[in-house]
Formats: sequence, C-alpha cells, structure tokens
Amino acid sequence: MQEVSIGALTNPCLGQEAQSSAHNYRSLPVVIKRAESVFMWDVEGNRYFDFLSGYSSVNQGHCHPKIVSRCIQQVRELTLTSRAFHHHLLGPYAAYITSLFGYDKVLPMNTGVEAVETAIKLCRKWAYEKKSIPVNKAKIIVCEGNFHGRTTGVISFSTDEEATRNFGPFLPGFIPIPYNDGEALEKALADPLVAGFLFEPIQGEAGVVVPTEGYLSKAAKLCRDKQVLLLADEIQTGLGRTGKRLACDHEHVRPDILILGKALSGGLLPISAVLADNEIMLTLKPGQHGSTYGGNPLACAVAMTALEVVEEEQLAANANDRGIQLREGINKINSAYIKLVRGKGLLNAIVIEHPDAEAAWNLCMEMKNKGLLAKPTQGDKIRLAPPLVISATHMEEAIAIIGDSLSVLNYG
Ligand SMILES: Cc1ncc(COP(=O)(O)O)c(C=O)c1O
Repeated sequence: MQEVSIGALTNPCLGQEAQSSAHNYRSLPVVIKRAESVFMWDVEGNRYFDFLSGYSSVNQGHCHPKIVSRCIQQVRELTLTSRAFHHHLLGPYAAYITSLFGYDKVLPMNTGVEAVETAIKLCRKWAYEKKSIPVNKAKIIVCEGNFHGRTTGVISFSTDEEATRNFGPFLPGFIPIPYNDGEALEKALADPLVAGFLFEPIQGEAGVVVPTEGYLSKAAKLCRDKQVLLLADEIQTGLGRTGKRLACDHEHVRPDILILGKALSGGLLPISAVLADNEIMLTLKPGQHGSTYGGNPLACAVAMTALEVVEEEQLAANANDRGIQLREGINKINSAYIKLVRGKGLLNAIVIEHPDAEAAWNLCMEMKNKGLLAKPTQGDKIRLAPPLVISATHMEEAIAIIGDSLSVLNYG
C-alpha cells in the first residue's frame, strides 16, 4: 500500500487519514470539497471532471438539485421509523419502482453487497420451497472475475486473490464458471442442484468486460429451460449507465431477481433494492430477513426522486450518445499506449499497454493534473464513467484532456 505523500504537506487531512483511517483504498492524492453535476472541486478550488462517478453512483450528476431538495425536505420531517412500524413513503416508493421495472415486489436494502446477499438468500429459499431442492444443497452458478461486494458471503465466490486472501473459511454452494461462456454455463446447469445463475451484465470491476452479443439472452434461455433463476447484479450497470435503463435491456432479458444499488440514491446515501415476482419474494415471511435502515422514509423519498430524474432527463439516451462520442474520440487519439477502449453507454475502460506496471496510475495522475479524475482497475485498465448528464461539449473537453495526458507515458 502506497502511503499518500503528495499533498500531505499542504493538506493535513491526508496525513490524518493515513494515520487514523484504515488503509483499505489506494486513493488518488486529491482532496475533494465540493461537487456539482459532472464536476468536483478540491480544497484549493481546482476543478475536475469526475470520470468515476463514485463507482457509477452519481449517474444523475453530483448534488442534483431535485434529489437534494427532496432529501432536505424529508430530513426535516421523518428519517427513520424502522420497519417495526409502517411509514407513509414505503408504499408509494414500492409501487413506483415495481411498476417502473415490471416486478410484483421490491425488498429495500442499503448497500449493494447487502442486496446481493439478499438475492442469494431469496434464491436459496425459493430453491427449497418451490423447486424442492434438498435443504442445504442448493448451488448458485457465478462467473470468474466477478465483483459483487465485500462481505464474507460474497467474497466466498470471488476469484480475485486480493479479495479473498486470509479471509477464509468461505461459504460453500457456488460454482464458478468462465464469464461470457455459454457452453460452460450449459454444462454447469446439468447439475440438478443448481438454483440460480448470478451475473453482472457487464463486469465493471474486472475492467468493464462486455460479453459477446447474444450471451445474456442465451444464458437466460438456458436457465429458463432448467428452471434456474437469473440473478442480475445491475448495481453498477443499471439506471441508465450503459445506455438503457438496465444493461439486460440490450438483449431483452428479464432477470428473475434484479439487484440495484449505487445510483438508486444519486450518490446521496446507500440505497439498494432487490426486485422479484411474488413466487420468489413471498417465500420470505416476517422475521426471516430485514435491515434496520432498509426502506427508511428518507431512502424511499430519495430513491423515488433519483429514479424520476433518470427517467425525466432521459439519462439512458444521453449515456448512449455520449458513450459513442467518447469511444470514437479515444479511438481517434490513436495512441500506442491505448491497446483498446471498450464499453457500453458511459461504462467504459481503456486498456493501457506499457512496460511499466504503474503506467495506468501515472496516466491517472497526469489526467488529475490536467483536470480529470479517473481511477485504474486491475492494474492496466482505466474506467471512464462520468455522470450521465455530461454534455457533448464537456465530453469533447474531457477527451482532449485524456489525449493531452498520454505524453506522460513517453518513458520506459
Ligand atoms: C456489480 C457490483 N455489485 C456489487 C457491488 C457492491 O456494492 P457496495 O459497495 O454498495 O456494497 C458493486 C460495487 O462496486 C458492484 O460494482
């Protein structure tokens, strides 16, 4: 873990953070104080394009005025009841989100990984109570290279050494198969104990790995034929990010269990949700699953408004158009250091080709110096995922910064 030294002298909070906060992130040495729409400003007043969007949480743009004002109004009135009592906002929110996505029921949670855990529990319960799989024998197929969060349950099926080393023992009941491999899925589905297939429609943390066209629809058909539930983790890909409301919409795939998070709050607070039809959701009875903060009044108000903004401002369509502009712009730069650019909508990555293993980090540092913030993933990939409200003019400006920054790699 590299200690943050740049800026530590001019900004004491970096030193305090290094001293007193766990070292579980390698952050770029920039200290953000304020943000609006596609921009963030540091403590010295420097302006940056945000090309990470809080790992795709700020689809609606930072501090979206409509979401912020709804949040402030609700904060003053009622924030938490717990589900021990009813409150007047859960019903309208549940009705809105279920009708928007076309499911019977929603189960509100907080962080993304909690929603994934919830989906796994639901899938298992359904397997025992509806599919008659012998108790404690259900299996869920997962993909190599997956990222679904950090709980012990969810890292149990991670194939990333860094995420798993010295955190065992792990939870059984998962079958990892290669991503984007229909044949491997078909083979794994031959096991009658399989209850579900959990997947990301695009693998975000793996470096924006986009499966071959037809993979998702083939996977959906294979699972349906075997009465196996499709569990789509759309925490990063959902809510307009890839140019459609859901990434699964690109292939007209309807997951049996849909998992949402991140942009469900527009970046204001942790809000996640699991959606499914009655046959699955009603296997859960009172007392069998829950969360103190899940479905709280503030979250319901914020999530409903955040969803409205995605729809009203047609953010999926803008993500699609600006994504095409971004990929075309980067391809035109035609740099020897960019092996390829890939993605859908505004979930993109460039793969850096350079003898220095730190090249992607160095490029991010140079882009920071020139006014654009992005972060490497998996060493050699840089995710490019700005808020979906970005204009064509701002995108041009951002592409120019990326192009101008590449000369920093003229070494090695
Ligand atoms: C696809 C996917 N699933 C789950 C998660 C975990 O979400 P959270 O960090 O809110 O727990 C993430 C976070 O990056 C993600 O990208």
